[in-house]
Amino acid sequence: MSNPATPPAVGVLDERAPLTFPPGFLWGAATAAYQIEGAAAEGGRTPSIWDTFSHTEGRTVAGHTGDVACDHYHRVGDDVRLMAELGLKSYRFSVSWPRVQPGGSGPVNPEGLDFYKRLVDDLLANGIEPWLTLYHWDLPQELEDAGGWPARDTAARFAEYAQLMANALGDRVKYWTTLNEPWCSAFLGYGSGVHAPGRTDGAASVQAGHHLMLGHGLAVQALRATLPQAQLGVTVNLYPVTPASDAPGDVDAARRIDGLANRFFLDPMLRGQYPDDLVADLAKVTDFGHVRDGDLAVISTPMDLVGVNYYSRHVVAAPVPGEQPERYWRAPTNWPGSEDVRFVTRGVPVTDMDWEIDAPGLVETLRRVHEEYTDLPLYVTENGSAFVDAVIDGQVDDVDRLAYFDAHLRAAHEAISAGVPLQGYFAWSLLDNFEWAWGYTKRFGMIYVDYDSQTRIPKSSARWYAEVIRRNGLAAQ
Ligand code: FCB
Repeated sequence: MSNPATPPAVGVLDERAPLTFPPGFLWGAATAAYQIEGAAAEGGRTPSIWDTFSHTEGRTVAGHTGDVACDHYHRVGDDVRLMAELGLKSYRFSVSWPRVQPGGSGPVNPEGLDFYKRLVDDLLANGIEPWLTLYHWDLPQELEDAGGWPARDTAARFAEYAQLMANALGDRVKYWTTLNEPWCSAFLGYGSGVHAPGRTDGAASVQAGHHLMLGHGLAVQALRATLPQAQLGVTVNLYPVTPASDAPGDVDAARRIDGLANRFFLDPMLRGQYPDDLVADLAKVTDFGHVRDGDLAVISTPMDLVGVNYYSRHVVAAPVPGEQPERYWRAPTNWPGSEDVRFVTRGVPVTDMDWEIDAPGLVETLRRVHEEYTDLPLYVTENGSAFVDAVIDGQVDDVDRLAYFDAHLRAAHEAISAGVPLQGYFAWSLLDNFEWAWGYTKRFGMIYVDYDSQTRIPKSSARWYAEVIRRNGLAAQ
């Protein structure tokens, strides 16, 4: 990856001409089970690590939990109708593991499975391609109690669960992704502790990252054997990492963060090896003794596609001797290997998450995956922004979110023009929802949710996106 000393321009790309996407481009929207379903104790579902975490004092803003969320479990028919009104070509959802396999082992729970069968059938009846993610962070609590992702056995349990799902839904779901953002599961869940299960153990987080990828590889093998026609992949969250200056210390900080955030996952899954510099950087944390012969071959089992979640860029700088860097959600001091790196803010426009808006970073990210790693089809499986919304006369005019989508779709188109085989784009998110540790205080939806009444209001961005889908592209401005 090139690390230009001067960060590239930020924000909306210049292009204002009409842009058409390739025929068959998969226009979608994404959600995740724990963030929308609610019905936490219904239909035989048992707790996941997110139930435990969100019910633990002080872990989420205002103690918010996913107990009710968007009540999607009870409103799935209405929500699919909203998707159909938007004209979505695809819907990316995740399956709650403890809903379909309570406790994370043993037989399938027919009642839990039935919910997903109805969802998938309803999507298909509306001409919407189901895109199923097996793991969007809701590990059954019993598996965490048995050691969680730092324990090798969790990978085997995950493959077993993948097999159950293939048997149950393989006849009607074509697109399967194993993990969503293993970086977050490993480093936020076990390293910095800001996500469930909230552990702060550097070595455990590196082990978790490895076993997540091992589970992914085993699951791909199981799915492939059962569903030879399916399209199989994984979703990773990637960031361009730019040094704050061309000073050697800053350039080295960028190398290190790029190793931890991006190459930790891309290299094993797409090249079958860990990067040497990453292993050296982490030597103080772990000797990688948890990696067994043959693991990397499993982890790099061939896939059919790669899903990329893109939100922002990291700009980083060398430590200042004697100064403790400010804690930052993306790099709390105990994120192993990055303890002393400074995350620099450039003063450019940010979203309500304080994430810098950087559409050219999407072009850079997609080109890098294609040019340095793989010829596989790529999909943007998440991209979007939180902004404060106001309901005025029953309408939500979310101009900032709309502009964010517009700029990033222009970037996606630029990547396609540069030769990237990008075949689809999923807006995050269909609905406002439970934004993990931020609870309901951050709104990412194209559809507004009033959590008291569970009323849905399509925002301006939703109406605009429907038009983008109808045209298969962007209008001139
Ligand atoms: C991603 C997650 C998704 C959502 C967005 C804002 O990291 O995959 O669930 O929280 O961020």
